Amino acid sequence: MSATVVVGVQWGDEGKGKFVDILARDADIVVRFQGGNNAGHTLVVGDERTVLHLIPSGVLNSGKICVIANGVVVDPAVLVDELAALRARGYLSDDACLKISDEAHLIMPYHKAIDVARERLRGKGEIGTTGRGIGPAYEDKVARTGIRIVDLLDAAVFEEKLERNIREKNLYLKAILREEALDFGAVHDAFRAHADRLRPYVTDTALYLHREIEAGRRVLFEGAQGTMLDVDHGTYPYVTSSNCVAGAVAAGAGIGAGVVQQVIGICKAYTTRVGNGPFPTEEPGAIGARLRETGDEFGATTGRPRRCGWFDAVLVRQAARLNGLTGIALTKLDVLTGLDPLRICTAYRAEGERYERVPASARLLAAAVPEYEELPGWTEPLANARRLEDLPPNARRYVARLEELSGTPFTMISVGARREETIILA
Ligand code: GDP
Ligand code: IMO
Ligand code: MG
Repeated sequence: MSATVVVGVQWGDEGKGKFVDILARDADIVVRFQGGNNAGHTLVVGDERTVLHLIPSGVLNSGKICVIANGVVVDPAVLVDELAALRARGYLSDDACLKISDEAHLIMPYHKAIDVARERLRGKGEIGTTGRGIGPAYEDKVARTGIRIVDLLDAAVFEEKLERNIREKNLYLKAILREEALDFGAVHDAFRAHADRLRPYVTDTALYLHREIEAGRRVLFEGAQGTMLDVDHGTYPYVTSSNCVAGAVAAGAGIGAGVVQQVIGICKAYTTRVGNGPFPTEEPGAIGARLRETGDEFGATTGRPRRCGWFDAVLVRQAARLNGLTGIALTKLDVLTGLDPLRICTAYRAEGERYERVPASARLLAAAVPEYEELPGWTEPLANARRLEDLPPNARRYVARLEELSGTPFTMISVGARREETIILA
C-alpha cells in the first residue's frame, strides 16, 4: 500500500503541478480530491508549458490513470475543453485513463454568475475569487441542493433538478444581485451535450480507488490551492470554499483515513498570494515587484499579478502541523538570486502580543508586524544545480535555515520550472 498526498503549504501556486508531474513517475494513479478549476497547475516538459485546471497533473506521464474524485467541483464545459485539448496533443487517447466520480458536484452557470456578481457588490471588501463559481457550487453541495455528475447522466433527474435550481437562482440573481436571469433551455441543452461527452469516464471512483489500493497500486493525491486557503484553517474569510489540507483526501476521495503514508508539502522559497486578505510578509514595493518579475508571478488561472513577499516560517510551521507533513519540496529558490539580504519571518507582533502561530482573526493578522531575521544572499544563477553541493554556500545556508524553522525535512529543491531543474535530496 502506498499513498502520497501533495499539498500546498502557503496560499497556492507553490509549484504543485511541477512536483505532481515528477512524483507521478513513481505512481500508478493520480487523483484530484478537492477544489475545481480555480486551480491552475503548470507543468513544463521540454519546451512545452501545460496549465491544468481539472485533470490531474500526472497526465503527461504515459500510462497513468487520472481520477477526478467526489470532492472536486466540476465545471463540465471546462473539463470537456481540457480533455479535448489534451487528446489533440495525444494524451488520454485511452478512455480508461480518466475516471470521474459520479458523486462529484457540478459547477453550473448560475454559480459563476453569483460568484462574479457577489464580488462586484462587495466592492473593496471583495475576496478576489477566481470567478469560477467555486464557492456557490460548494454552498449548494452543503445545502443539499447541488446537482451531481450522476444526475447529469440521468436526463429526467437532471431536468427536474435544473428546473428547480434555475427557478430559485433566477429569483436571487434578479432581485438581490440585479443580474440577468439564465435561460433554462440554453443551459439544459448545453449540459445534455456535456453529459454525452463525459459519460464514458464516469464511475464510482471511491470503489475504484479502494480496489486499486488493496491491489497494491501506488496512488498520488494532488491537492489544489494551499493550506492558508483552507476553509477551516486558512485566513478566513479570505479562503477558498473547500478543505485543502491533506486530511481532506479521506472525504474527498472516499478512502480510509489510515491509507496515506507520505504527505509532501510544496513550499515556495518566498511567499505569494493572489486575491485579497492578510499577508504579513507582503512587500508591496520594489522587492515585491522584483519577485513578481523574476518569478513570473502571474496567476495561471486568471492572469492576475500575485502579491509577493518574504518567506513566512510561522505560516509554514503551521501548515506542517495541520497537514502532518512528512517532507517539503522547496520551490523557486532560483528566483531569490541577486536579492541581498534575504529576510525570513519567524514570528508576528500584533496588539502587544507575540505570535508564533497564525491567529484566527483576520483583523489581527492584518495588523501583524513580522519579526525578521536576515541572511546573506547570493548572486549565482541556480538553474543548473542538480545536487545540494552545486548550490552556493549562502543558498545552502538559507535552505538549511528554512528547513530548521519549518520543522520538516526538505526532500526536494526546485531551481527552475522545468522537470529536470530539480535537486532530489531524499
Ligand atoms: P501550482 O498551482 O502550485 O501548481 O503552481 P502554479 O503552476 O500556479 O505556479 C507555479 C509557477 O512557478 C509555474 O509557472 C511554474 O512553471 C513555476 N515554477 C515551478 N517551480 C519553479 C522553480 O523552481 N523556479 C521557477 N523559476 N519557476 C518555477
Ligand atoms: P492552485 O491550485 C492561488 C484563491 C483566489 C481567492 C480565494 C478564493 O493553482 O494553487 P475561489 O475562486 O477559490 O473562491 O477564490 O482563493 N485561490 C487560489 N490562489 N492558487 C489557487 O489554486 C487558488 N484557488 C483559489 O485567488 O483569493
Ligand atoms: Mg496555481
